[in-house]
Amino acid sequence: MKRRRFIKTGILAPFAVASAAPDMRGVKRAIGNPLVISTWKHGLAANETAMRILQNGGSCLDAVEAGARVPEADPTVSSVGYGGIPDRDGHVTLDASIMDADGNAGAVAFLEGIKHPVSVARLVMEKTKHVMLVGEGAKKFALAQGFKEENLLTEEARRTWLKKNKKSVFPGETPNGKSHDTIAILAQDKDGKLAGACTTSGWGNKMRGRVGDSPIIGAGLYVDNDVGAAGATGLGEEVIKTVGSFLVVELMRQGYEPDEACLEALQRILHRHRNTVRFSVAYIALRKDGKTGSASILNGFKYALYRDGKNILQPTEGIIK
Ligand code: GLY
Repeated sequence: MKRRRFIKTGILAPFAVASAAPDMRGVKRAIGNPLVISTWKHGLAANETAMRILQNGGSCLDAVEAGARVPEADPTVSSVGYGGIPDRDGHVTLDASIMDADGNAGAVAFLEGIKHPVSVARLVMEKTKHVMLVGEGAKKFALAQGFKEENLLTEEARRTWLKKNKKSVFPGETPNGKSHDTIAILAQDKDGKLAGACTTSGWGNKMRGRVGDSPIIGAGLYVDNDVGAAGATGLGEEVIKTVGSFLVVELMRQGYEPDEACLEALQRILHRHRNTVRFSVAYIALRKDGKTGSASILNGFKYALYRDGKNILQPTEGIIK
């Protein structure tokens, strides 16, 4: 009996492995040409830092963490880290996640008083048996790891919050009318390995306790080193409901080009809303052969791509004009 079960498993296993990626066979891993792709204009500075690490032979994981830390520390970026628009009660609460080339993942959500949630997420991945820590527990862990508690509410963000009379600022829309939001950052190192990170202060004036897509593995971020990586920006609730980044990666596994995969994942959202929306979501994707793609529901989304010595901001035409 035992032997028969063993034989069955032995026969089935090779088929299961072979059929898992039927359309990836022609896609070869890019080696020796590091690249970084990230969301929005603040991605340019993030890419610079990440690429410096890759050019010095650093890992894609170190690169995405260091890149994500740039907007986290920048008080002029009002949608990520220090200087982020607070929640309805006036508190800056942060979400972040990170994934490496071995499929390991770490995340923090509803974290307060710690400037670099992406680095805390990395330590959750590397030093605990868990994937996600939230709120007080995440902060306790961060403090125990040597992070210091800081006031993340800048005077500018506080004034914006007061002026806006605590009205919601949708992800993808900032109070000064300029669009920017979460940074999702994906990198490929010289060995062709992939990693990603995602960090945000989330929806400005959100309900206290609200968590978006960015710290949810498969929603705001997903990396499968055999296929590719994807990251999201925009209205997190819609990304969560469609498990967006995982969907983009799975579509690439099925043979969709990176652009097409991003587009199809957004079509799932639009379909649910019968193509009438007043919000935006955008995806970036990086396939293991180094091909990149993006798509956005509305016009205005830009992503930063650093490859072949050039770091360029690329506009993405919205599906809805
Ligand atoms: N995409 C950021 C958020 O919804 O929190």
